[in-house]
This record gives sequence, C-alpha cells and structure tokens, in this order.
Amino acid sequence: VKRYCFDRIIERTNTDCIKWDQIKTNFPKAAEGALPLWIADMDFPCAEPIIEALHRRVDLSIFGYSSEETDKYYKAVCGWYHRRFGWDIAPGSICYSPGIVPAIAFLLRILTKEGDGVLIQQPVYYPFTAKITANYRVVVNNSLLHENGSYTVDFEDFERKIAENNTKLFILCSPHNPVGRVWSEQELKRMVEICIKYDKWIISDEIHSDIVRAGVVHHPLEMICPEYKHKIITCIAPSKTFNLAGLKLSNVIINDPVLREKWREEVTGRFSMGHPNPFAITATVAAYTDGEEWLEQVKSYIDENFAFMKRYVDEQLPKAHFYIPEGTYLAWIDLSDYISDKIELENLLQTKAGVVLDEGYIFGEGGFCFERINVACPRSILKECLNRIKKAVVVSGTKEEA
Ligand SMILES: Cc1ncc(COP(=O)(O)O)c(C=O)c1O
Repeated sequence: VKRYCFDRIIERTNTDCIKWDQIKTNFPKAAEGALPLWIADMDFPCAEPIIEALHRRVDLSIFGYSSEETDKYYKAVCGWYHRRFGWDIAPGSICYSPGIVPAIAFLLRILTKEGDGVLIQQPVYYPFTAKITANYRVVVNNSLLHENGSYTVDFEDFERKIAENNTKLFILCSPHNPVGRVWSEQELKRMVEICIKYDKWIISDEIHSDIVRAGVVHHPLEMICPEYKHKIITCIAPSKTFNLAGLKLSNVIINDPVLREKWREEVTGRFSMGHPNPFAITATVAAYTDGEEWLEQVKSYIDENFAFMKRYVDEQLPKAHFYIPEGTYLAWIDLSDYISDKIELENLLQTKAGVVLDEGYIFGEGGFCFERINVACPRSILKECLNRIKKAVVVSGTKEEA
C-alpha cells in the first residue's frame, strides 16, 4: 500500500497554474500574498500510477495526433463506472470533449435554439448561466429551497418551469456545486419523471460524483431511470476526481444514436475537437485503472478537512453558517450575519483578510454573502485561510454592531 501525504505543501507559483499564478488577473483588489482557495482543483500531488504512466509516455518521445478510441481506453473508463457505481456504460455511447463546460456549450447548440429556455437550479456552478447566455439562450431558474443548511428542490416550481413551452433542457448538477448536495434516488427520479412528462432533455453534470463523503452514495442519473436514458446526457470526467483538470479530457455519455450523430457533426465536423491529447489519454487510463488507492486516501483527507473546518467555524466563527456537504471538495459558508453586503464582504476578504474565494453571489440567486472555499489543500493552508477570515470578519462584524 502506498501512503500519500497530503499535508505537504507543494509550491505551485510559477507553474502556469491559474489558482496561484493568476490571482491578480482574476482578483485585481487582492492583497499581496493572498491565499487562493477559489478555482476547483487540488493542491495535492496526483496518484503515483498516473505520474509513472506519464513519465513512460514522455519517454516514447513522439507526441503526435492521438485517439482515445481504443479498447484500452474504453475498458478503463467503463471498468471504473462498473466497479464504483455498478453502471454499465456502452463504449459506443462515450463521446470525447475537452471539458464539461465546452460539452455543455456544444449540447446547448445542438439541443436548443436561440431564445429557448434552459432550466438550472441556483445557486449553481456559474458557467451554466454564462454558457446559456453567451449562446443567446434564456436562463430559467428553479431556485433551490434552503433551510438551516439543507437544500432541496422546489418541485412545484420545477414542474411549472419545465412545462413552460420555451424550456427545452434541464442542466442538473449532481453532486451539486456549490451547495454540496448528493441527490437522493427519490429526488432524481422525480426530476427525471417531470422532464419526461413534458419531453425535455436532461444534461446531468456528474463531474463531482467520485468525491462524496464516507457513507454517502452518488446515483448516476441514467441508472435511476434506465428506460429514459435516451433523453439523458451524462457528463463525467477524471478531472476533479484525480486532479487532472489541466489535461482537458471529459467523457459525454450520449445514448440516443441520432443525438450522437448530431454531436459528431457539431464537435468533429464543425469544430474539429474530436480527440484528446496523448497525455490526457495516458493519464485517464492510468487513473481509472490504478487510481483507486489514491482516491480513497484523498477522500479521507478531504473528509477530515471538512471536520476540521466544522469545528473551527463552530468555535471561532459562531455567527457563520456552515454544514459539511455530502459531496464535492467545496465548502459553502454563509457569512451574512457578519457582513450583509456582498461587495463589502468581497472587498474585506480580498484586501483585508488576504484570501481569494469564489464569491457566493456569482452562483446566482441564493448565493449572496456566501463564500465557496476549496478545501482540497493541505490542512495548514485551510487553517491559515480560516484564521485570516476570522481576523477580518469578526473584527469588522463586531465593530458594526457596537
Ligand atoms: C459542476 C461542474 N461542472 C464542470 C466543471 C468544469 O468542467 P471542465 O473543466 O471539464 O470544463 C466544474 C469545475 O469546477 C464543475 O464544478
């Protein structure tokens, strides 16, 4: 058994990484030396089998055009989902995309027309909104219900908005970023049944499905309602799971052959985005074949980071509202009882506290004065981030009250 040490701080500055090297570009107000816990990648080293496979690939010395359409690749991807979820993916249904966000953009163009409505559930991963509007489609928002840290679907509103003639597509985030829900079988079934009743398409973004807390079970949407799988497009990837986001590989599971043909026309025919780079293929095969040991250890470390954060917040930030999420490595914390103006909070955290986080308001309705904190980092960095937040908000929050 290989034991990984996730406490070790790996210097990421000057490695062309967005998280540490592009703070000033993305957060011009941020203080010098601000700690970045925003964009969703991990500050952890990859699994050894992935690194070894990449070394071997480099040694082959030629990096020409490559294709993932091999038995080895399909065996690795399908094997993972069979072992981990009991989900049997047909190799022929797997379509490559350089990312899930581009996949969503392609699918928006294939499945909907300009002016059509697309249902999402805010607060939600903000590129959903961005891609819908950038492609001149219309956001239809079924806001999540929120009470004491528990988020649920407002099904009456969901059905009403799905039934509206102009809504053609529902983009589900499962597990949900940023609120951290891992949807139950009943919730998923109900959402699918409503979409099917009105004959709408569903994209299920399951990029976070491998990162759930111990004891929590993620259900691939397709497995909930296999009889409707031709209306479901599932987006999966090794990128969040194995910290390979920069390699730009994701898999889009399209069961409807007609839709698959349209995908090929759009993605390969129109944009020639048909195949991944050789490093992405190598890393994906290694990850899905030999990455399990690393994943189990990284999941435990993340679970412990959340437990640490929960204790910290309860003791040191008593007016903050934070609940350990069921899935993702993203904490979602409500600081509105300290500072109730979203811009004031943003400025305070970036300039005075010296932390850069994803501001809750960018996720849309229901996100105001929340912060999304990426806890996939060494515990000492998480602790320093929380100390900085505490120093800034507790002092300012107290002053306001006085
Ligand atoms: C829900 C969700 N979808 C997609 C992505 C990113 O996808 P990609 O990098 O494959 O475009 C993220 C990254 O944080 C995410 O949280």
